[in-house]
Amino acid sequence: MCGIFGCVIKEGNVAPVIHASLKRLEYRGYDSVGIATLNNGEITIKKDQGKIDDAHKILNLDDMEGNVGIGHTRWATHGAPLKVNAHPHVDCSGQIAVVHNGIIENYAELKADLENLGHEFVSKTDTEVIPHLIEDCLKKNPDWTLTEAVVDTIKKLSGSYALAVISVMEPGKIICARNESPLIVGVAPDATYCASDLTAFLPMTNQAVMISDGELVTLTSSSYEIKRIQDGAIIKREPKIIDWTPEMAVKQGYPHFMLKEIYEQPDTLRNTLRAQEHYLELISTFLDRATEVYLVACGTSYHACLAASYMFSKLAFLPTYPVYASEFIEQHGKSVNIDSTILAVSQSGETADTLAAVTCSQQRAATILGLTNTVGSTLTRVSRVYIGQQSGPEIGVAATKTFTSQLSVMAQLALKLSTKRGKVSQDEMDYLAEKLETLPQTVQEIILSQEEKVKALAKKYRDAKIFFFLGRGINTATAYEGRLKLMEIAYVPAVAFPAGESKHGPISLIEAGFPVVFICPKDGQTHKTLIGNIQEMKARGASIISIIEEGDEEVKALSDDYIEVPKGIPEVLSPIPFIIPLQLFAYYMAVERGINPDTPRNLAKSVTVK
Ligand code: F6R
Repeated sequence: MCGIFGCVIKEGNVAPVIHASLKRLEYRGYDSVGIATLNNGEITIKKDQGKIDDAHKILNLDDMEGNVGIGHTRWATHGAPLKVNAHPHVDCSGQIAVVHNGIIENYAELKADLENLGHEFVSKTDTEVIPHLIEDCLKKNPDWTLTEAVVDTIKKLSGSYALAVISVMEPGKIICARNESPLIVGVAPDATYCASDLTAFLPMTNQAVMISDGELVTLTSSSYEIKRIQDGAIIKREPKIIDWTPEMAVKQGYPHFMLKEIYEQPDTLRNTLRAQEHYLELISTFLDRATEVYLVACGTSYHACLAASYMFSKLAFLPTYPVYASEFIEQHGKSVNIDSTILAVSQSGETADTLAAVTCSQQRAATILGLTNTVGSTLTRVSRVYIGQQSGPEIGVAATKTFTSQLSVMAQLALKLSTKRGKVSQDEMDYLAEKLETLPQTVQEIILSQEEKVKALAKKYRDAKIFFFLGRGINTATAYEGRLKLMEIAYVPAVAFPAGESKHGPISLIEAGFPVVFICPKDGQTHKTLIGNIQEMKARGASIISIIEEGDEEVKALSDDYIEVPKGIPEVLSPIPFIIPLQLFAYYMAVERGINPDTPRNLAKSVTVK
């Protein structure tokens, strides 16, 4: 978790640049913020707990001198979210400053050794051992360069890190390095940058160099040099041009990123659907030949996998196993093998649990396929083939547009596979392909026609203490996702399960006014049974909120409130349009309840710890 940033510029002060860039990284954590700059042989640090804007009001983060600096926005792992634990951390003399994203697993032993040598620690973080190790190394080897001392330090660390170091001994440069946490270098004519994510430096440059595990980079205002940590070999790597515009990363007039990203879905879906024939073909070929297929992901991406397992089964007659990445090793770590195929799905491409499942499978010779929104992420590098889902940067902590894009890529894959296998008639395939193409328009219509109704619904239910979300078949996944959105953004406890399960226990919770959300597509086999489930709930006094197709009078008559989506949506594609009202509902519930939906408490966008 956490966002790191570093910048060396030819002229001027870096602090305002670092401050603005940290704002773009705030989605990675917002427990504390800190900046260190180097000027006239001295390091100045400003840091505080809490969000960047609050710290800036007290400290004025822009008012710091120096053309070299590093910054950090934190999601606490070791040590409470307090000022004392905020990065940057320094050595005993205050001459070396470090920012770090990741976890140093052996920090306790290292700290004990350093304390025995007389080093004094002020924080409870794992990170603080790093500047002290560098200091210690330079004390023992006074003729070593900063790079040599950083390499020596890194070799003592076990765990994950993306880190950036500045020192008064070698002003004018930043040393950064990576192991299992993201690190990207940006290159401009008058500056270089390092960051956890390229959106941090996108307004300044679109030239990016992806850094791999086991690499160290030295940045000056006019150069970057990449070295392999293990043997010091110099690695030549040219920058790539990134075609995301800076505007893609700002709010563009919306009150929150989450709403902007919900509204972007017609466009992002169009983008995704335009994508990458070649990669769809390759991945569907792998899936076609696979003996067993696991769909591995966390959170919202897992819900996309759950829905996709119905798509693969119904369209291509391919059974797949959706598995929570955090459970994968326990459940399948011993049985996954050379005949297994893993399709790992991760918006960020950096989720630690997903990468751990992938690493375990790779070690057992399984085939790794990836679906991610983040080109250059670790997942893209460890996958045999990957598809970039092309949703553009998602800044709101809640996944919205990336969910619908993931679903549409997997629908495309299922259709491709179906064609290969010849299990479904060509007419049906053509019909589904055409419907998939029209979904961006359908999503647009839903947003424009239903937003006000959803807003009113949120007003009505703002004080509800609990919700049920129920669906059947593929829309069990939609129910899970609608429930996750409401819980994480509006802090309302909610329960989701396949509607058929209610009689096996949960229905005992129902009493007068208990809100139950039903996802009711008209197409397919589930509509009739779902009506039975609605009646069971209604008979016990539940308030029925249904997401229905226009003209579904039967369900409308049973509902206290309903939201409509356009007619004629094939069931196998229905999670894409049916999730839209539930995203809006979570958003407006949060707004009604006075919560900032972009930065829900205790969460971060990219979960890089297990
Ligand atoms: C929920 C949400 C999370 C992520 C999960 C996986 O709105 O965003 O549940 O879906 O942390 O993240 P990725 O897809 O980056 O692996």
